[in-house]
Order: sequence, then structure tokens, then C-alpha cells
Amino acid sequence: MTSLEQKFTAHKLFLAPDREAMLREVGPRIRGIAGGGVDGALMDRLQKLEIIANFGVGYDSIDTAAAKARNIRVTNTPNVLNDAMAEITIGLMISLARKLPQADRFVREGKWPAGGFPLQRELNGKTLGILGLGRIGKEVAARAQAMRMRVVYHGRHKQDREPFPYYDDLTAMARDVDWLVLIAPGGKATEKIVSRNVLEALGPEGFLVNMGRGTLVDEAAMVEMLQSGKLGGAALDVFEKEPKVPEALFGLDNVVLSPHQGSATTETRDAMGALVVANLEAHFAGEPLISPVV
Ligand code: 8YV
Repeated sequence: MTSLEQKFTAHKLFLAPDREAMLREVGPRIRGIAGGGVDGALMDRLQKLEIIANFGVGYDSIDTAAAKARNIRVTNTPNVLNDAMAEITIGLMISLARKLPQADRFVREGKWPAGGFPLQRELNGKTLGILGLGRIGKEVAARAQAMRMRVVYHGRHKQDREPFPYYDDLTAMARDVDWLVLIAPGGKATEKIVSRNVLEALGPEGFLVNMGRGTLVDEAAMVEMLQSGKLGGAALDVFEKEPKVPEALFGLDNVVLSPHQGSATTETRDAMGALVVANLEAHFAGEPLISPVV
């Protein structure tokens, strides 16, 4: 924000008490947006809009087809968040396997003197299936190997340069792995790709970790299977209707919940912000965009 305000005249729609009034007043002058959540209808109200610089690598909250049709450029923030994302992915996996949130509560609640905490599971020697071996997925794979895990992956294409076994079928991969990590983009093309069938294949001993988007999973099926024990456990950073989280998950011991904080470190958010500003500056200086998606 500081950097944006130094370089541009910034209007903060997210702080406006009356969104409509602000759009009416400044909408006709707006040439760029920093942030996401932009549909065709909003673009139509901003007749001078030239660029949307999304604060995030995933840009499913922007209608890119509508942007393209209106000759509006779109940028995202790739790469700068890979390490933060990969770290928290492994962190949530360990939290789930070792029951760290429960262990912390156990000590705080003074239960330790009355007897020990139940045994847990480990990552060592297990197989990890990654849905989406992109820039973040590869960093997760590297760290999972440091945990002595075997890594396999599924995605739209086999990547010949990668050493990991490729599955062209997600259900087949889910059947063979102990852990399934989702780090694919959201949007229509991947909606509910992790279906009830996939979750059944992962099974009562399997663990699901969702770091991508809530829309990737059939959430209702997932909740029901976690309740009934048909799915072993889940570590979830994203949800279908976040920040609303299915309350049925709150009472489950085989679940670790996290409030969409994959990239939420000061280091990474500074880098993401700098990239948003750099894309806007490049655009308004007539220079090539740094990380364009449209
Ligand atoms: C969010 C993310 O953008 O990069 C992404 O795709 O989901 C996150 O980094 C971030 O939470 C800001 O809303």
C-alpha cells in the first residue's frame, strides 16, 4: 500500500463504506486495479481500466476472458510465494500426522500428568501424490524428499524433465499414495476434480492436504467421509466458501484447519506486493509486463 500510494493515486474500494458511491465517483477515472475479485460487470463500470494486477499467483477470481475481450491486461505474482507455500504444506502435513494442535491443547489443558498423549504417524517412507506439479508443487516435492517420502504426481501433462513417476489418472494415483497434496489452480476446469471417487481411492488410511483452492474438492463428500472414517484425515488451508468453513469439521480430531495463509509471511507478502507494484509501473511506463497472464 505504501509503495502504491507513493507512485499512484490509490482509491481503496475495500475500505469504502459505500462501494457503489465510490465506484460512481472515481470509477470513470480508474486505470488500474491492484488486487482480484474482478468480473466483467465491474470492468464495464471502469471504462478507462487498462490493467488488473492480481495480488496472488492464482487468478481464478478474475474473469480473464472478459479482460481479454476488453483489451485489459492481467498480471499475477508467481514464484515469490513458492517457498512460503512449500514450507506451510510440510508444516500442515506434520501437524496432521503428529497431531500438533491436539498435543499443544493437551499440555495447556493440564492433561499430561494424568497420562501420555496417543501415538502418532510419520511422513518418513510414505508416498506423496501431488496434484499439480507446477512451480509450488516442485518445491513441495523437494521438501517431501527431505522427509524421505516417495513423490509421484498427476497433472494435465507428463513432465519429461521431472524424475517423479507420473499418473495420467488421479483416482489411480490416489489409490497408490498415503498423502495427496492439492496445489493446482482453481476455476471451472478443475472444479471438484477431487471427487468422491478420488477420496474413496485415498481411503481410510489416506491423508488429504488442500493448499490450492476449496473448489478443487467435493467438499460435502470430504466432510462426510472424514466424519465416517472413510477418509483418514485432512489438513486444509482453503475452503469452498471461505472464510466460511463447514462447522462439521470443527469437532473432528482427524482434521487440521488453517485460514488460507499459504503465502501469509511478511517476507512473501512484501515480495508479492512489490511484484504487483512493479507490474503496474511497467505497464504505465509502456514497458513489457513482468508476469502477465493476459
Ligand atoms: C492469496 C493465493 O492471493 O496466491 C494465491 O493464489 O491464494 C494467496 O496468495 C492471498 O491470500 C491474498 O489474498
